This record gives sequence, structure tokens and C-alpha cells, in this order.
Amino acid sequence: MGKLDGKVVVVTGAVSAIPGFDSIGSATVREALAEGAKGVVVSDINDKLGEDFVKELNDKYGKGHAVYAHTDVSQPKDVEKLFEITEKAYGVVDAILCNAGVVTAENFDGDPEEVLKSRKFIQSINEDGVFYTLLYGSRLMMKHGTKGSILLVSSIHGVAGRHKVVNQETGEKLIERFDLLQYTMGKHGLVGLSKAAALQLAESGIRVNTINPGYIMTPLFQAAVCVDKNDLAAEDSLATDAFDFEQLATLHPLSNDPITDKEIVCRGKFGGRMGVPDEIAKPAVFLMSDEASFITGQKLVIDGGYTAG
Ligand SMILES: NC(=O)c1ccc[n+]([C@@H]2O[C@H](COP(=O)([O-])OP(=O)(O)OC[C@H]3O[C@@H](n4cnc5c(N)ncnc54)[C@H](O)[C@@H]3O)[C@@H](O)[C@H]2O)c1
Repeated sequence: MGKLDGKVVVVTGAVSAIPGFDSIGSATVREALAEGAKGVVVSDINDKLGEDFVKELNDKYGKGHAVYAHTDVSQPKDVEKLFEITEKAYGVVDAILCNAGVVTAENFDGDPEEVLKSRKFIQSINEDGVFYTLLYGSRLMMKHGTKGSILLVSSIHGVAGRHKVVNQETGEKLIERFDLLQYTMGKHGLVGLSKAAALQLAESGIRVNTINPGYIMTPLFQAAVCVDKNDLAAEDSLATDAFDFEQLATLHPLSNDPITDKEIVCRGKFGGRMGVPDEIAKPAVFLMSDEASFITGQKLVIDGGYTAG
């Protein structure tokens, strides 16, 4: 018996940009089907990879277990259509992972014009996109009286910022700060949104929570570790120079082994490690499932101890 037996799940940003490695969204799609979901709507802007992913899933689980929906979450019409497609394919939606998100580091000390350039982009996806998904997704749940679960993907940057640590004697930077003010603002916003929406939707029996991952080895991170960084310079949404993986890993003090060994896991210079997508997907599926039937308005921080200090 699976945690999501017979359920219909929608995941935004559900594609993995590098076939063979999972993102948080694609890992959650796989976990939902492994836990018995009868249908998953894979939604993303990367249509080719999305169609390929759906084919792979239907080959494994049988025709009709997955459908693809092109959805740019920054466009309310796209999100409205996502739930029309869901209703047409499966009738209802039981669980939604509002996952699509981007990271853009901004040089806050630099030219204000440059700082502001990223503002609209981040807000339109990380904040507005989640709001539209919550809005239209909850409407479909209420239309059919579905006592569903909506999970917003926040971050450790939804509960904490990040400071620079310098060895006072040598001047060596132990932990570099990178400027994520706008990302941090948006991810904190999701925590507030989940509380307010949990109360708003409680009388309909709909639960709303956030998950707050630490740094997880998803495709973009993995690409930055595996290939020449220069190849990634073209990526709009990732300032690869801002990442020093030994520093990032060190921020999560837990030095155990990940639940899957197939992934590349970055380990820290001073201990600790980054997480892997399955370590987010499994708790996400738990929160989507009826096992979490009394949990709403909460955040689950999954960070190897990052925020414990
Ligand atoms: N990886 C981490 O360390 C980490 C940590 C904390 C939180 N998160 C959050 O988890 C979520 C997923 O992150 P990930 O690392 O798996 O990312 P990823 O970049 O590997 O995957 C994100 C997916 O979102 C899609 N996407 C981008 N813009 C979109 C848009 N406008 N509409 C719909 N889809 C869009 C991309 O095509 C991609 O498939 C994000 O919200 C991110 O902020 C990630």
C-alpha cells in the first residue's frame, strides 16, 4: 500500500534539466508514482524534456499515469490552463507541489540598476507563480470537495539569511556570502502565505504547508560540479561563480550518507554535505499524503542541521 494510492498530483517545475539527474520536482514526481499515485501532471516550461519524462513514466507505470502540461507559472493563464488539463485528464487534484523556482544572486553592493534588474524575474516566478498555483489549484479542489494538500517549496532562505564568515586572524573567508536578498524575501513570503492560506482553506479541509530545503544537488548544482564552469556561464538563472561547493556543503553539518548513493554528493571541507533530491521528495510525499492529515500551516525544514546553529 502506497502513501498516495489513487491520488492525483500536480508538480510545477517538474522537469530535470539534465537527464539522469533529478531535480526536486522530478524526484517528487517519481516518488509520488512509486507511492501509488494514479496520475501525475508534469508541468514545466521545458516542453521537450517534459514530454520525454512523461513518456518514460508511462512506459514504466502504464499509459495515463503521467501527462505533460506546458506551464510558465509566471503567467496566470498558463496556470489556470494547467488545472483545466488536470481536471480533463483525471477529474480532480489531490496534491500540488508548487515547486517551480529560480535562483538569481544579485550584487547588492553594486549598481542599484543592476540589482533591480533581477527583481521582476524572481518575483514573477518564486512569488507570483506560487500564488497563481495555490489560487487555481485550491479552486479545483474546492470545486470537487477534495480535501487535498498543497505544498509550497520554500527554502532555508525562507527561515534564515546567510552571513559571511571570515577568519579574523588570517582574513581567510571561510563562508562566502552571496547576495540572495530577493530570493530570501520571496521564500520567507511563502512561509507566510502557507500559514494564511492554511487558515483560509481549513474549512474546506485543504492543508497548506511549506518544505524548506537546504542546498540540494539538483541538476544545475550538479552541472556546476561536473562540467567546466565556463560552459554554464550562459545560464541566466545561475551565477556559478557565486558557488563554492565545499563552503555550501559545510553549512549543513550532518555527515551521514544520503539515502541514495547514485547521486553526486558534495562534501564540505570542514564536514557536512549537501542533500540529494530524494531527501526532499520523500518528506514532500509524506506531507501530501493522508498520513499528514493533521498538519497544516507548518514548515518542514530539511537541511542537515543548517539552521540548527
Ligand atoms: N536545489 C536547492 O538547493 C534548493 C534549495 C532550497 C529550495 N529550492 C527550491 O526548490 C525548487 C526546485 O529547485 P531545483 O533545485 O530542483 O531547481 P531546478 O532548476 O533543477 O528545476 C527547476 C525547474 O523549474 C522550471 N522552471 C523555471 N522557470 C519556470 C517557470 N517560469 N514556470 C515553470 N517552470 C519553470 C525549470 O525548467 C526546471 O525544470 C525551487 O523553488 C527552488 O527555489 C532548491
